[in-house]
Amino acid sequence: MDKTPFETLDAPALQLHFESILDSVPDAMVVTDEAGIILAFSRAAEKLFGYLAADMTGQPVARLMSGRDRANHDSYIGAYLRTGERQIIGRGRVVLAARADGTVFPIDLKVGEARIGERYLFTAFMRDLTEQQSAELRMQEMQAELVHFSRLSAVGTMASALAHELNQPLTAVANYLEASRDLIDSPDPDVKEILREALSEAAVQAVRAGDIVRKLRSYVSRGEVDAHAVPLAPLLADAIALSKISRDRADIPVKVEMAKGVDRVLADAIQIQQVVINLIRNAMDALADRQDGAIVLRAFQADEPGFVTIEVCDNGPGLPAEMQQILFKPFATTKSHGMGLGLSICQTIVEAHGGTIRAMPRPTGGSCFRFTLRQELARAV
Ligand SMILES: Nc1ncnc2c1ncn2[C@@H]1O[C@H](COP(=O)(O)OP(=O)(O)OP(=O)(O)O)[C@@H](O)[C@H]1O
Ligand SMILES: [Mg+2]
Repeated sequence: MDKTPFETLDAPALQLHFESILDSVPDAMVVTDEAGIILAFSRAAEKLFGYLAADMTGQPVARLMSGRDRANHDSYIGAYLRTGERQIIGRGRVVLAARADGTVFPIDLKVGEARIGERYLFTAFMRDLTEQQSAELRMQEMQAELVHFSRLSAVGTMASALAHELNQPLTAVANYLEASRDLIDSPDPDVKEILREALSEAAVQAVRAGDIVRKLRSYVSRGEVDAHAVPLAPLLADAIALSKISRDRADIPVKVEMAKGVDRVLADAIQIQQVVINLIRNAMDALADRQDGAIVLRAFQADEPGFVTIEVCDNGPGLPAEMQQILFKPFATTKSHGMGLGLSICQTIVEAHGGTIRAMPRPTGGSCFRFTLRQELARAV
């Protein structure tokens, strides 16, 4: 069979070609033998790791790695040569690398192999993931900010709307009461009748103020819900990820258990995420002093047909006695930095979705919060 033009190249030409690759390949490229000894080190690798190729050839490649991967590198190759089972080769994996100055950074590692008789050559291509990971982290931080901001702004809107609406009936109440105070000592018998009227007007206005608060609350909830059929598992996964951002106890394990047939719910995903985040954050706060803290999220069919129950449980100290009755009231908190709004917001959102929320002690210790959501039932065809 005819040789391709490339195959007609002699050894010195191939060597030159290989050197040009080492000079110009954009990813860091490192060639090793089966013992993990570096045979070639590309220009981009020099830049990425801060070593000179001349200093690195003949060195063990494990020097470029960090942590567990450094310790295990030789056994990776050994295991591969023994079993032929591929851990990294041909697949690509994220590992931790170390620069000459000791800084550790994540890389995407891809390895190719060439077998020449009994010998092997491994070629590793490495791409720095620092930028990509910090961009992802920034995104997550921004989302967390947004969630916090939306909570503050919802409170702000509600507060200013309330102030505005309540001003008029409260001014009226004050006026009636002041007039009554001025008249109360008058000996005139007709004044008693005027007093009675003023006081009952004041009572009517006070009841009106109460109505305004109730209406505004239902308006706020009704106005914001934009429910769609959403898959539950990713919603829960995102909420877990978001609730771990900028928390000291982000290492507390959060387990998810999904029963069959509860894959989709009717919800405004962002709002229900907010509910789950608030519940997980409360659970994390409750577990702050525990070494064996664990959180479990469960989703299962509710007793009420057409509804799904979502439950967030922790093995913390349980609900403080003084909170039992006022748990869902705004500004009820036992935390020095708490706003006492998390559960009140959860209740508003869940009820606006047509569900209910309640807390219950966990028989094994700790507490559980349960809320229900309408299920998206598969339509019959
Ligand atoms: N999982 C839990 N375990 C024990 N106590 C809890 C739990 N969840 C809530 N609580 C109690 O209920 C109170 C009210 O919770 P809520 O989320 O409404 O406000 P908060 O967490 O104090 O403040 P924030 O507005 O920051 O959420 C908490 O202060 C705490 O005492
Ligand atoms: Mg809270």
